[in-house]
Amino acid sequence: MYWWQKTVVYECYPKSFLDTRGQGTGTIEGIRQKLDYLSSLGTGAIWITPVYVSPMVDNGYDIADYCAIDPLFGTMEDMDRLISDARDRGIRIVMDLVFNHTSDQHPWFLESRKNKENPRSNWYIWRDAKEDGSAPANWRGIFGGSAWTWCEERGQYYLHTFAKEQPDLNWEEPEVRQALYQCAKFWIDKGIGGFRIDAITYIKKPAVFLDGLPDAEDGLVSIHNMTANTPGILDFLHEFRDHTVKGTDLFTVGEANGVSAEELPEWVGENGVFDMLFEFSHVNLEFKKNEIWTRPDSWTISELKEALRNSQENTRDAWYPIFFENHDKPRCVDHFFSEKADRTAAAKVIGMILYTMRGTPFLYQGQELGLNRVCWDNIEMYNDISSIGQYDLALKEGKSQAEALAAVRKFSRDNARVPMPWNREKNAGFTSSVPWLNVHENAEYLCAEQQQANPDSVLSWYRSLAELRRSHSALIDGSYEEALAEDEDILGYLRENEEERILVLANLSEKEKIYEFDEKGYMILLGSYREHTSGKLHPLEAILLCHKK
Ligand code: GLC
Repeated sequence: MYWWQKTVVYECYPKSFLDTRGQGTGTIEGIRQKLDYLSSLGTGAIWITPVYVSPMVDNGYDIADYCAIDPLFGTMEDMDRLISDARDRGIRIVMDLVFNHTSDQHPWFLESRKNKENPRSNWYIWRDAKEDGSAPANWRGIFGGSAWTWCEERGQYYLHTFAKEQPDLNWEEPEVRQALYQCAKFWIDKGIGGFRIDAITYIKKPAVFLDGLPDAEDGLVSIHNMTANTPGILDFLHEFRDHTVKGTDLFTVGEANGVSAEELPEWVGENGVFDMLFEFSHVNLEFKKNEIWTRPDSWTISELKEALRNSQENTRDAWYPIFFENHDKPRCVDHFFSEKADRTAAAKVIGMILYTMRGTPFLYQGQELGLNRVCWDNIEMYNDISSIGQYDLALKEGKSQAEALAAVRKFSRDNARVPMPWNREKNAGFTSSVPWLNVHENAEYLCAEQQQANPDSVLSWYRSLAELRRSHSALIDGSYEEALAEDEDILGYLRENEEERILVLANLSEKEKIYEFDEKGYMILLGSYREHTSGKLHPLEAILLCHKK
């Protein structure tokens, strides 16, 4: 097995992690200072979202220089020190590669936009206007508004899947691909442990850009439906792999909105393009019915079980990145459970699944504290460019301000981006200055310091889970078989190797459940309630039992 299959990856959103300079935003040095904390969670790799030079229109996902650190986060020396100090503790750093687009301030784009003759003219996706002067196709960018922006200087439109400040690179141009591979190599040479590869399903565009059937009042169609996972994309990605990580011990995990579980075998494993792939079926259950304005609970636990089953089944010969949160998603305690649910129990049941399914757990900053969403009173308090775009679109669709704000509260990426609450000091110990986003309203009792002292806290639960992963090899290399598959509320599975058989039962419902499983020979190793009665699970109870061979 590879090192990255045996460890836990912690996703760090550096802007909100720890500010060591009194500037209101987190720093790379802040991550270094918390390496012991991260170790205690079983972390063997830290995926850091972008810290490269950037105008920060999309918090760093708009990169102006792939090989330099933005002064906001510190210096390259800080980064080198982090890479080396982390390595001393057995932790590797994972960089975020944003290769679908750059910032509109990247020197490549500044040159490309000048005219049709310059050497980088073909590095981005330029098209003439339609005869009436309108955009080449009626596509809506992911953050709202047209995916095309007119450039007066060049007299053409350019395409951007995300914000207009994030022009899409033209992967058909071989020089573009080579330039990107060089950037990846720059980081490989620094001794990092892997790459998370951003928005990768959008890099290949269709040969002809056609209008699509509008899907909203604005007359536009989501670009996702027109370009995601276009045939031919895997050829690019095989080339990427061959020119960069092949033959190294780095791992890659692609962000693959638009790839279904059934397609996973083409993407991951021996003949695939990445080591792991984030596919989103289990966290996007409500979107399949397009019900985002109505109710978030428009799915059942059986559907969640089915989504998880599909991903497990389709990565039997490969490997799965287990995740329930990231910097783009609502907090899991809100997303998967009702408002009445006990937040601690909810955080623990998800934690159990995260650390014990087959695959590498990706734990997102603050998830180990069971953080829930924030509830802000007006749109001005939100920073997320996507929330602001969605808010505007909702108003255009005739929703009231209150309805639009309610949706923002539910789905805003800021829910996951509020500063880490470390202690009970000012600004939860995150910064001595004014934090860039409000700290969580419940920081005082959710903070790490408070939870550390409490053996029943979510943080202590995660530390126990990390310990279990260290001491029970079946959780790492064991096979995966579903148990209680027919049960509508309990997710159950067995992990088994030559030494032991482990049974995990997670009651995802908020009611008490009776189950039938012969527990003879099993010993309970961890349970989220003080006592466990065989055959019965409390609401949201999670237990782990072990049968030694
Ligand atoms: C990915 C990132 C997201 C970013 C977008 C554009 O989806 O996770 O945060 O805004 O790509 O780069």
